[in-house]
Amino acid sequence: MQTTQQIQQVDRAGQHGQPALGIANFNVSHGRIQVVFDVSLQVRAGEMLAVLGSNGAGKSSLLGGIAGVVNNQGSVTVNGVNLERLPAHLRSLKGISFVPERRGNIFSAMSVAENLDIGLRLTAADRQAAVKADILELFPILTKRMSAPAGMLSGGEQQMLAIGMALGREPSVLVLDEPSQGLAPTIFDLLQDTFDTLKKRNMAILLAEQNLPFATRIADRYIVLSQGEQVAEGEQSDLHDHSRIMALFMGPKG
Ligand SMILES: Nc1ncnc2c1ncn2[C@@H]1O[C@H](COP(=O)(O)OP(=O)(O)OP(=O)(O)O)[C@@H](O)[C@H]1O
Ligand SMILES: [Mg+2]
Repeated sequence: MQTTQQIQQVDRAGQHGQPALGIANFNVSHGRIQVVFDVSLQVRAGEMLAVLGSNGAGKSSLLGGIAGVVNNQGSVTVNGVNLERLPAHLRSLKGISFVPERRGNIFSAMSVAENLDIGLRLTAADRQAAVKADILELFPILTKRMSAPAGMLSGGEQQMLAIGMALGREPSVLVLDEPSQGLAPTIFDLLQDTFDTLKKRNMAILLAEQNLPFATRIADRYIVLSQGEQVAEGEQSDLHDHSRIMALFMGPKG
């Protein structure tokens, strides 16, 4: 097993179109109960893959398993480096940044500035100022809220902070669990712009979504999970047929 000291920060910038995240024959369990079965997927640098499915399909479990915060078994590679069996903090150092559902990575009682600093703590000291400036350029509204407790921000601002914190580690792969959840549709345009910018910078983005119209706008490709199994995959062009995708939520026969 590799130790934190042995794992150095990797060169984050993936090459556009190159595989950034790969998982194969991937299983996730809560205790003894297996909830994700034999999922395989790949996300390239500069691309967004959406994991779709109904309540309880296993989306959060899959994402948590990839981030290493839920029991998982199977191959996980980032930029060709095998992260199988590594715990969450080492997967994070190797380029996977996870934003849990309901922006669960932010600390409500702490200020925006303190939260951003927590997000930067694994980044080399001589990079922190530049990375922080980059995050604030992406989310200028946060500059005006620096001293406010994170819990006082609007839902949209909290989502920006949650993504900003995750970007503090200069990830290759951003893993987001239902970023649109609970947000006013007016925020969706801003999120879409953010994801477009990140994709142009060659970020690979994996997100879980239940909001099919939103996923249709932002995802390049998708998979559908039903009862923990991958029942479909395809390109963005298929997503416009919402009734067909919704039928897949019920299983391969719809
Ligand atoms: N901490 C847990 N302990 C035990 N079982 C869990 C736990 N979290 C989720 N599960 C179970 O795992 C299965 C998959 O749940 P999961 O939360 O991954 O689905 P989801 O697709 O993210 O659903 P939602 O759309 O509601 O977020 C469900 O049967 C759920 O009850
Ligand atoms: Mg979920």
